[in-house]
Amino acid sequence: MPGALPLGDPAPVDGSLPASVVEGVADRNLGVYLHVPFCRVRCGYCDFNTYTGDELRGARRDDYAQEAVDEVRLAGRVLEGAGLPPRPVSTVFFGGGTPTMLPHSDLAAMLSSVVDTWGLVDGAEVTTEANPDSVDAEYLEALATAGFTRVSFGMQSAVPSVLATLERTHDPERVPLVVRWARDAGLDVSLDLIYGTPGETIDDWSRSLDVALEQEPDHLSAYSLIVEDGTKLARQIRRGEVAQPDDDTAADMYELADDRLAAAGYGWYEVSNWARDEQHRSRHNLSYWQGHDWWGVGPGAHSHVGGVRWWNVKHPAAYGQRMAAGESPGAGRETLDAETRRVERVLLAVRMREGLPTSDLDPEGRAAVAGLIADGWVEGREALAGRVVLTRTGRLMADAVVRRLLPV
Ligand SMILES: C[S@@+](CC[C@H](N)C(=O)[O-])C[C@H]1O[C@@H](n2cnc3c(N)ncnc32)[C@H](O)[C@@H]1O
Ligand code: SF4
Repeated sequence: MPGALPLGDPAPVDGSLPASVVEGVADRNLGVYLHVPFCRVRCGYCDFNTYTGDELRGARRDDYAQEAVDEVRLAGRVLEGAGLPPRPVSTVFFGGGTPTMLPHSDLAAMLSSVVDTWGLVDGAEVTTEANPDSVDAEYLEALATAGFTRVSFGMQSAVPSVLATLERTHDPERVPLVVRWARDAGLDVSLDLIYGTPGETIDDWSRSLDVALEQEPDHLSAYSLIVEDGTKLARQIRRGEVAQPDDDTAADMYELADDRLAAAGYGWYEVSNWARDEQHRSRHNLSYWQGHDWWGVGPGAHSHVGGVRWWNVKHPAAYGQRMAAGESPGAGRETLDAETRRVERVLLAVRMREGLPTSDLDPEGRAAVAGLIADGWVEGREALAGRVVLTRTGRLMADAVVRRLLPV
């Protein structure tokens, strides 16, 4: 089952926001995340907030699109009520779960509610995640017609034994097909890969990179497999049925990915993300990392507007009850003080190609930079220009870098 939500202060029943959120709004874009909390089966490594048919406790997938539309309308009223000026939405992202388990008409209705409420900026980025076995050519065509611009496929690996360890259900042969259909429909394509799966060899990973690059995606994400507490994979490892992922192998795999992707013309712009060019970076993810405003719709979704962060009730049944009662689905919230916002900027910006302005560091953090350059984790020339930018070794050690930049 998915992990627990944070604690925090109670969220108001009407979802209203304090007037303080207006401050600095001219420098912030608005994005919308729509969570779709359903999967056909749960992959053994995943603790995202998603539910299979027998975990729904009375929630109905058929009701979900309307509930999400109701939250979008509530969001429109709340942002206006807080005194925020009308802002067309820059990016929309449907994530999950498996958004494409819903009929395409449901996704289209949810997107229409965003357009009706705020409008979209010219050239807005509208993405959905999709499992390769959950879409066909007609479905992708319908998404493009509805206004989607981009699809992110959960490819994970090209090697059947690795997919089996991850308990992924799709046939790897389907990936080239869905990519072609998406392209034919005029959609940009991103591929998600996972490395460091127990039993995965460097040759396996090399093959997955080759196959991914043969598809000529616009964007690629490569995530190191995280063994999340409470997952089936964690239990299998504890019982000795599956090997523990090996850190050294995962580091070699990251380096191989970075070499291979760079040689194919992809530039890294965040530790785990590469794009064909600047235009194809995920603008939605950039807006999280750069502290813009986003409204997260759906069970367990998180939102951030002007330094106030909140999260929704977690289970789709509880979410449905709140929406049916005309109440905000907010479960808890917190207002970030200036120091917390600074710490978050450090945590996020240091993982990005543009780096972290040294002015965001406190004196102790600034003093740590020279040692990080000497260790080969931070680019010396960039530091002279006032930015902390990770070297490739530094990217592998990003968490350790953060601990040195934010000493407790
Ligand atoms: C939560 S999924 C949602 C999209 C879709 N259901 C899929 O699986 O592709 C988004 C991405 O998170 C990745 N992910 C989930 N759990 C992970 C973990 N424990 N370690 C690394 N990546 C993970 C998935 O493999 C997927 O590429
Ligand atoms: S399909 Fe995606 S969201 Fe669903 S369980 Fe697997 S990784 Fe998690």
